[in-house]
Amino acid sequence: PSEIGRVLSIQSHTVQGDVGNKSAVFPLQLLGHDVDPIHSGQVLNGQQLWDLIEGLEANDLLFYTHLLTGYIGSVSFLNTVLEVVKKLRTVNPKLTYVCDPVMGDEGKLYVPQELVSVYREKVVPVASMLTPNQFEAEQLTGFRIASEEDGREACNILHAAGPSKVMLTSICIDGNLLLIGSYRKEKADSPEQFKIVIPKIPAYFTGTGDLMTALLLGWSNRYPDNLEKAAELAVSSLQAVLLRTVDDYQRAGFDPQTSSLEIRLIQSQDDIRNPQVKLKAERY
Ligand code: ATP
Ligand code: PLP
Ligand code: MG
Ligand code: NA
Ligand code: MG
Repeated sequence: PSEIGRVLSIQSHTVQGDVGNKSAVFPLQLLGHDVDPIHSGQVLNGQQLWDLIEGLEANDLLFYTHLLTGYIGSVSFLNTVLEVVKKLRTVNPKLTYVCDPVMGDEGKLYVPQELVSVYREKVVPVASMLTPNQFEAEQLTGFRIASEEDGREACNILHAAGPSKVMLTSICIDGNLLLIGSYRKEKADSPEQFKIVIPKIPAYFTGTGDLMTALLLGWSNRYPDNLEKAAELAVSSLQAVLLRTVDDYQRAGFDPQTSSLEIRLIQSQDDIRNPQVKLKAERY
């Protein structure tokens, strides 16, 4: 068993293309974690998830250091995930729950509307780290993010609801991408915050959010007291993956701006293991 962590990762599975568990499991393994994936999606409902958890329990296999969740398509499944969080915490009270509240992007929801209030009222309060994009942070707070300051304020609102670490994985301000990181040690502390300015690559990718959350879990487990460093490493790996992806498409004669690009994950394993930090965090 690995010393660094045991991760239960409940996310969607795809046959072709790297989203959900397909973009999370491999990088977490590369970063030294034991990863047990449960594939959500068409084939799994809440009861079936619970059956798997009971199977693990019957075999005394429910000790996890981390729970990671991504895309979840139904209220019943999300409610069962809440039961899983409770159960895993009875086995390991220190369990870190990393929640990517996958709901939508660029003004559009891609899950049923009823999920939003379940995330807001029940899931966010039990999460240790939350990794929303701009639209998801707006859905969870009811607060429009139109500036960098608004992004920081959204993080404050989310902290007040529960999680000690909030990573607003991207907000788009004046055509630039910003990641805003925010963490607090004690509930009463006001959060420490930083940003990373990310040059926008003129292409559209799938799976970047899922990969980003996996990398943030992995690196923040390596550097639990240095979220800036974890974020720099995660962002740097991701940018290397995306630049390689664009380069590969161009070499193959495709115009990367014409369709959504499949990230070159396996080909980027060195950048995942040993990223060169080119984008630095700036503290507020
Ligand atoms: P997705 O859009 O894949 O659903 P998400 O909305 O959950 O992901 P984002 O915040 O959009 O998450 O993307 C995660 C990370 O991916 C960002 O922090 C950024 O580092 C990177 N990223 C995504 N698209 C681009 C791009 N066009 N140029 C540069 N970086 C990008
Ligand atoms: N999984 C599935 C099946 C999806 O449809 C989506 C988004 O469309 C995601 C995961 C989230 O992917 P991303 O990493 O782009 O946030
Ligand atoms: Mg996005
Ligand atoms: Na995100
Ligand atoms: Mg996402």
